[in-house]
Amino acid sequence: MNKLFIGGGMRVRGRVRVSGSKNATLPIMAACLLTRKECVLHQVPDLDDVKVMEDVLVSLGARVKRENGTLIINPENITSYELPEHMSRKMRASNLVMGALLGRFGKARVSYPGGCAIGQRPMDIHLKGFRELGYTIGEYYGYIEGYASSSSDCDIMLDFPSVGATENLMMAAVISKNNTIIRNAAREPEIVDMQNFLNRMGAKIRGAGLDVIRIEGVNELNGVEHEVIPDRIEAGTFMVMAAASGGDVVIENVVAEHLVPVTAKIRETGAEVIRYNGSALRVLGKRKLGPVDIKTLPYPGFPTDMQPQMMALLSGVEGTSVIVETIFENRFMHVNELRRMGADIKIEGRVAIIKGKNRLRGATVEATDLRAGAALIVAAIGGTGETVIDNAYHIDRGYEKIEEKLRSLGITAYRIMT
Ligand code: UD1
Repeated sequence: MNKLFIGGGMRVRGRVRVSGSKNATLPIMAACLLTRKECVLHQVPDLDDVKVMEDVLVSLGARVKRENGTLIINPENITSYELPEHMSRKMRASNLVMGALLGRFGKARVSYPGGCAIGQRPMDIHLKGFRELGYTIGEYYGYIEGYASSSSDCDIMLDFPSVGATENLMMAAVISKNNTIIRNAAREPEIVDMQNFLNRMGAKIRGAGLDVIRIEGVNELNGVEHEVIPDRIEAGTFMVMAAASGGDVVIENVVAEHLVPVTAKIRETGAEVIRYNGSALRVLGKRKLGPVDIKTLPYPGFPTDMQPQMMALLSGVEGTSVIVETIFENRFMHVNELRRMGADIKIEGRVAIIKGKNRLRGATVEATDLRAGAALIVAAIGGTGETVIDNAYHIDRGYEKIEEKLRSLGITAYRIMT
């Protein structure tokens, strides 16, 4: 049993510091396999998903040491090119080692990640790209096997700007005698962080953050030190909490630019977002917010990872809001739980129609995945009474020290584990 108790009806007030980005850390950890030298990563969040990636690297033969927010990864003695099923099942992002293993050793065998709660999440775009890079890819009994078979300059057009495929292909293409162009690439800030990390190692990559990435192959990469970017989804979640509770929160350690799509929608509700000099944002909730319509899109569109939290906020705002989820086909798992708290939400395929009301009320609910769990915290804070969130371990995959941070903002939050 892993339950999180949240007290509602309080205004969230104070300052909170955002941790390093989970979604930047995981691919960068995989990219450490591209060198024989030690890499040191700073501002690494202490999260369950990061621990899973540590286990993945150790299972391949790397040495990994954590000192608070710093991770020291020594990939000198990699002994395995295989990611077994029990590892890949724990976390889909573990498939990012495939690009890194192909890039460094020219071979890899990775258990097929399969679907997950929010959608099927196939790997066809990754595999098509690997093939275009000159790897022979086969799929056998739940495993994907790849080895380098030919090489020439190549120009890859992604069918969709997949974040994971862009990262995997960058890693698979960086050590090469050839040049690679990735078109319709994902433009997320985490891709830019990956480019910065690889270039510091000696890679020659440009274009990340735009939809065309150009990679000039290099012979080898060096060990480096790198500070991971702040987590824009954690920051966005605190912004939504402030708006939902009519609070006043200063969110520190943010890159405001990364939060533009979230800031725009929060402002549209009527809450105030003030950009401070340096790396902080202040969010001032208003007593009465208004409804907004949202469509999730690849960056710089509104992030799917903030959709559940915004839905929780809008459920407690009078008026009708419409949310269209275009990235994942099954990302409305939180709706049933929000309904238990009094939300009036109708689902038509990928469209959610939210008839917001004045206030949700606390209930016993279940976190079905990471961001669904975050949405329930938002709903609990914005509502009245006490909420009990079951299976709260999902939240620990992406939010570092969540109870501590909530308590520092004046929220009653405690965990019961048995
Ligand atoms: C990453 C993030 C995740 C975020 C998502 C979208 C990490 C560790 N995770 O996941 O938090 O929600 O981006 O912003 O960074 N697709 C295919 N075929 C493929 C690859 C993807 O059809 O080969 C589809 C997926 O099923 C999904 C969509 O493309 O519907 C987006 O997936 P993708 O951008 O690849 O997300 P991830 O990298 O898995």
